[in-house]
Amino acid sequence: MKVFITKRIPEAGIQLLKDAGLEIFIPEHENLSHEEWLNYCKGSDMILSVGSEFRYDQAFFNNCPEVKAIALYSVGFDHVDVKEATARNIPVGNTPDVLSKATSDVAFLLMQSVARRASYNFGKVKSGNWGDFDPLHALGQELYGKTLGIFGLGRIGMEMAKKSKTAFGMEIIYHNRSHNDEAEKELGARYVSFDELITQSDVLSIHANFKPEQKELFNASVFEKMKENAIFINTARGGFHNQKDLYDALAEHKIWGAGLDVTNPEPMFKDDPMLELSNVCVLPHIGSATVEARTGMAKIAAANLIAFSKGEPMPASVNP
Ligand code: DGY
Repeated sequence: MKVFITKRIPEAGIQLLKDAGLEIFIPEHENLSHEEWLNYCKGSDMILSVGSEFRYDQAFFNNCPEVKAIALYSVGFDHVDVKEATARNIPVGNTPDVLSKATSDVAFLLMQSVARRASYNFGKVKSGNWGDFDPLHALGQELYGKTLGIFGLGRIGMEMAKKSKTAFGMEIIYHNRSHNDEAEKELGARYVSFDELITQSDVLSIHANFKPEQKELFNASVFEKMKENAIFINTARGGFHNQKDLYDALAEHKIWGAGLDVTNPEPMFKDDPMLELSNVCVLPHIGSATVEARTGMAKIAAANLIAFSKGEPMPASVNP
């Protein structure tokens, strides 16, 4: 069976696929056009899909009836119409767990960077404006004992909550589809309504799987209700926030700052006015970018396809 790997992944995953006797195709160049991607998909039985720029929707499945299984090289699966895939008996796999620590590390990093105004201060150093010791300038805020609100308390949210509790003794509140018993028992986390989450959080961090109905859920009406000292962190999907509304809230100092590993649109435009603000820290979607996480992701994606090729269920599947 032929596997199309849309972009080169760590060797550990490729080796597993080879050892399992699967035929592999990896394009010579990266950044495939939509047409190139579709053409390669057409001749393949299985796709190991890297990144989320190409959509696996009804049109795709109509165009590529030979595709029998898809292994995503991501935990997020918002670029796949899972219902449609399931209706066609096409298993779709993802890469949970292995990137939870790395991704939550980035949320934790952004939280501290924004609290201590790292971008602003780094900008001063870069522009040759180190400045004298000033008791009143460039002051950050401490996170000790503050309230961390988590939207979507799954595996990644849980890692963020644990770190924040351990390092800063933060109170954890969360809003989720359902109660997280482990978080309530181990961390004393408190389930709250969405409104309580946005009004009580000193740091609000998004860790949910993105669904179309949640598009720009975090918009002006939410930022308006947040605390003035609040820090907004998004390492999940840019679609969760309205970028213009966030810009306004930050520019008008309605909230303290924002740390983003994902943007809307993504990639962010080079001249996005958000980049001019001193209370923002933006990273280019590097949540899972560690050797350990990316190697783990390669192994799980390969394991998903190998299982399928043997007629077994994928170890990490998103089909209901
Ligand atoms: C994920 O795994 O979903 C990361 O955001 C990379 O897409």
